Amino acid sequence: MKAIIPAAGLGTRFLPETKTIPKELLPVINKPVLQYVVEEANAAPGVSSSVIVNSPNKPLIEEYFLRDVELESTLKERGKDQLAELIQYVGDIKLSFIYQHAPLGLGHAVYTASSVTNNEPFYVLLADVIVPDHSILPKLYEVSQVHNNCSVIAVIKVSNDEISRFGIVGGTFAEKLNAQGKLEARPSLYTKGEEYEVGSVWKLDTMVEKPTKEDAPSNLAIFGRYLLSPRVMDILSHTQKGAGGEIQLTDALIELLEDEEMYALVIDPHEGYDTGTVANLIAANVSMAKRDPQLFASLTEQLKSQE
Ligand code: G1P
Repeated sequence: MKAIIPAAGLGTRFLPETKTIPKELLPVINKPVLQYVVEEANAAPGVSSSVIVNSPNKPLIEEYFLRDVELESTLKERGKDQLAELIQYVGDIKLSFIYQHAPLGLGHAVYTASSVTNNEPFYVLLADVIVPDHSILPKLYEVSQVHNNCSVIAVIKVSNDEISRFGIVGGTFAEKLNAQGKLEARPSLYTKGEEYEVGSVWKLDTMVEKPTKEDAPSNLAIFGRYLLSPRVMDILSHTQKGAGGEIQLTDALIELLEDEEMYALVIDPHEGYDTGTVANLIAANVSMAKRDPQLFASLTEQLKSQE
């Protein structure tokens, strides 16, 4: 089973930096955003390897993941064995590349990888979000397993003002994923709002890409982690341009709902960090720095000294 990671976007929000450095290679602490995403993908249940959908204009991405034997031996000569191992590890990460030759949308990017998914279910991970604890994909897998390998997508609760930035799902609150990661039936009596709590699982019947708040079927937004059935690739082969003039993955999923069951799992937005805007990338760096007491102490000290 493959994990598809679309990474062919222009990165306009980070220009002029992204004139040469792809946004997927921008760092969170000392590691490119994309490395976090590939590591998460490769650790997911059932994954044999990750496939990055790249643009031919971003060769630095491929270069980053190549072995650099010269650098490794220089580091070793200088007694920096740990760094040499780190560099070797990056070059050994299991992944392959496929090229999207025109920026025609997320659905088109995913379809570009159809030649390697072998008619099996596949994950899609949007590279804007990092999930350092790798906690989301195993939960999608559990829900999918219980429901005959159906498609499952991660969703978060958003406010009315945020709705138009996302794909929004609609359906009924069906089950709950408990703290042990096992599915339980939805309580027959539940308090209003419980359907939006972390762990709630919805059986979907509709989906809209970037709706107005009036047209949104719920406040549940697609988060950027999907486990999809192979039928999605068949559908993408004929999906037409939709919102924003792009071939939308959401539109293929709407068509999938006519043939197959699909579920959405409400996740805690704090399980991931969005890195898709300048402010969010800085915030993600600060949040990740907090996990390293020494680094965070040094950062806090420097910020205080600037006050
Ligand atoms: C994409 C998806 C959208 C999803 C969003 C999550 O949109 O099309 O359904 O909610 O990612 O970040 P994009 O942000 O690429 O416009």
